[in-house]
Amino acid sequence: MKLAKPLQNIQPSYIREILSAACSPDVISLAGGLPDDTTFPLELMSKSLKDLPNRAQLFQYGNTAGYAPLLEHFRERYQLPSSHDGIVCTGSQQGLDLIARAFINPGDHIAMEAPSYLGAIQVFSLAQAKIKSISQRVDGPNLEELEACFTTKNITLFYAVPDFHNPTGVCWSLAVRQKVAQLCQKYNVTFIEDAPYRELRFNGEHLPLVSSFCPDNSMVLRSYSKIATPGIRLGLVTGRLNWISALNKVKQAADLHSNTPMQAVLLDLLQHDEFIQHLAKLRHLYHARYKALIQNISLKLPAYCHLNTVDGGMFIWLSLPKCDVDALAKSALEHGVAVVPSSVFYQDRASVASALRLNFTNASIEELGDAIERLAKVIKNYCPS
Ligand SMILES: Cc1ncc(COP(=O)(O)O)c(C=O)c1O
Repeated sequence: MKLAKPLQNIQPSYIREILSAACSPDVISLAGGLPDDTTFPLELMSKSLKDLPNRAQLFQYGNTAGYAPLLEHFRERYQLPSSHDGIVCTGSQQGLDLIARAFINPGDHIAMEAPSYLGAIQVFSLAQAKIKSISQRVDGPNLEELEACFTTKNITLFYAVPDFHNPTGVCWSLAVRQKVAQLCQKYNVTFIEDAPYRELRFNGEHLPLVSSFCPDNSMVLRSYSKIATPGIRLGLVTGRLNWISALNKVKQAADLHSNTPMQAVLLDLLQHDEFIQHLAKLRHLYHARYKALIQNISLKLPAYCHLNTVDGGMFIWLSLPKCDVDALAKSALEHGVAVVPSSVFYQDRASVASALRLNFTNASIEELGDAIERLAKVIKNYCPS
């Protein structure tokens, strides 16, 4: 059987492939977007998990939109107005896929920041969208480029990660959030706000969702992978009633519904008295690791390596002088440290800036120090000063 045309041009995810190589005991991985598994709130989930055998109804087929008590909780937690609703997804990744299948026709123009989340590039490429790249600044997308793109390209949808962007860690300023919302309203572009890292802020002030400034022009994707566990595969999409009902139709065809027993366990976790403390501990741990990483970078890497400081999330973006980042990442792996080269995060390879994405949430402070030592040797070979 021949591969369907849209799949013929899609590369397998470099990150998912490197993850298996990075599992070798000799390799320290700063490659994946993995939370630290010692932080999984299994203690807080244990009563709920143990009680599952007494809740046979959870193991029956369930509603496509999600487990009703969990959806009710989400409506309250995120203060959804009566004009909006939510749909529980099998990870927020499925939410992206449902949106693409429900709203994108082959050839439609959509906008994304460059660099951008690889999983979103894959989804939109499979949907055969024409992706227009918007460059990124320290406080969000380049607004002049964005408006020019909206004006000339007949853009239907703008996808972005405003809180602690994957891969760059950038967090949009308040002014940029307001301006993007205004542009989306002016040009009737739907804003797709992907917010898996929003709860992982360890510094500075919490900023409103972009969508709060354009609620009728936007959909929000939330993930429980980073604050609960990725293995439960649960996410949420919220937006206007008619849009969520379109996603319901696609989800019926995709998988009927997400795992109901895990939705019930997630609800108990979110309502647990100690969930707030769990989040605080998580942020504290990640902050400590982030500080260790940047200290190691400033001590051990050449001065021409530039990093943008971040206030949360899981990644930093290490900019390098122009070099072959793919070869550099390959050599780093051979030297026992897994990192992701910037090239995988660009739709248009011509605009690739030389950089590496480094994750700071999965390795211990000691491992982070060793990883940067190993990386220093490789960088000096690939980018001699
Ligand atoms: C920006 C972004 N969106 C979506 C996802 C997918 O998350 P989930 O585990 O909820 O499917 C990720 C995962 O790392 C991500 O970085």
